[in-house]
Amino acid sequence: MTPSPGPIRWGIVGTANIARAQFLPGLREAGGGRAAVVASRDRARAEAYATAHGIDHGIADYAALVESPHIDAVYVALPNALHAEWTIRALQAGKAVLCEKPLSVGAAQTKDVLDVAASAAAPLWEAFVFPFQAQHQRLVRLLADGAIGAPAELYSAFHFLLSNPANIRMDAALGGGALADVGCYPIRLAFELFGADDADDAQVAACAARTEGGVDTDAAGIVWFGARRLLLSCGFKRSFDTFTSVLGRDGQIQLTNPFHPGPSDTLTIAAPNADPVVERPTTDARSFTAAIRHIHAVLRGEAAPVHTASEYSTQAARVLEQLQQLAGSAGEGR
Ligand SMILES: NC(=O)c1ccc[n+]([C@@H]2O[C@H](COP(=O)([O-])OP(=O)(O)OC[C@H]3O[C@@H](n4cnc5c(N)ncnc54)[C@H](OP(=O)(O)O)[C@@H]3O)[C@@H](O)[C@H]2O)c1
Repeated sequence: MTPSPGPIRWGIVGTANIARAQFLPGLREAGGGRAAVVASRDRARAEAYATAHGIDHGIADYAALVESPHIDAVYVALPNALHAEWTIRALQAGKAVLCEKPLSVGAAQTKDVLDVAASAAAPLWEAFVFPFQAQHQRLVRLLADGAIGAPAELYSAFHFLLSNPANIRMDAALGGGALADVGCYPIRLAFELFGADDADDAQVAACAARTEGGVDTDAAGIVWFGARRLLLSCGFKRSFDTFTSVLGRDGQIQLTNPFHPGPSDTLTIAAPNADPVVERPTTDARSFTAAIRHIHAVLRGEAAPVHTASEYSTQAARVLEQLQQLAGSAGEGR
């Protein structure tokens, strides 16, 4: 990978809400990069989106974007069922890729993507941005220092209200469902905290409410990693609500906003017979900033890549697929 001399030039695939609401503000906060082009299925939509959000160009061709010699990195912000194809094409064109979560639909397709990534010229990140953030790094440090003893249970929830039946998350053919959309976060966190070696031994239980089309909309699951376990709750049926508690032998650590924290969100260390210690470790205003800052440093040759998709994405995809199968979700594992 040749270091890029100027600002990192990003291409965005899809005129997605997430790119407008999170990626582009994070890119501005991170500095050192530029939104060079956005591609849409529709030229007018691409041009309007580019104008509205400060992107240099809008074009009507995903393929032209990923193959363009004028970009360094591709942000894949498409429905889940399209992640694999466009991530593979961007990797094969030599681009660094930040692909939205989940990396693809099912464990087999995830392995296909990671096989391509393994021999690609530039790295691949799945857009779980929380491991890059100061809050997560503080959590990892506290656990390593034994602040609550050995962690035994992770209790993690992610819910929001989704009322639009036309949303991509309500379409099985596009890889929809609550487990894929928000359940994937607690799973990834469990691997970050419990480690990858536990994947083969994981035991899984789950249940979910589903639409007639088989899309899970409200789900709960348990994943046992040997002596440790993840309890997860996720869905589209109640207003925004996300938290995580890590419970250890000697206490617990509670996060008010584990996956997209801002400066006002808290990390609380609670131990028996002691006053709770409340911290606010997050410094960036935007959730994506730390991840984008890291990608820029890697592409400038100033840092080695960390938290890449190769670390936990295969194992997490296998657990997600098992949860979806037990929950009776349509379309899992395609
Ligand atoms: N990391 C995070 O924090 C986070 C947060 C929210 C969402 N996400 C992920 O980001 C991805 C996009 O989510 P979103 O809510 O931003 O979606 P969205 O607003 O619906 O955008 C998806 C884009 O994909 C393109 N597209 C291509 N084929 C499509 C099809 N058949 N149906 C609909 N759109 C199609 C569309 O762009 P054109 O038509 O212009 O090509 C559309 O704008 C998902 O994978 C989701 O899981 C991640």
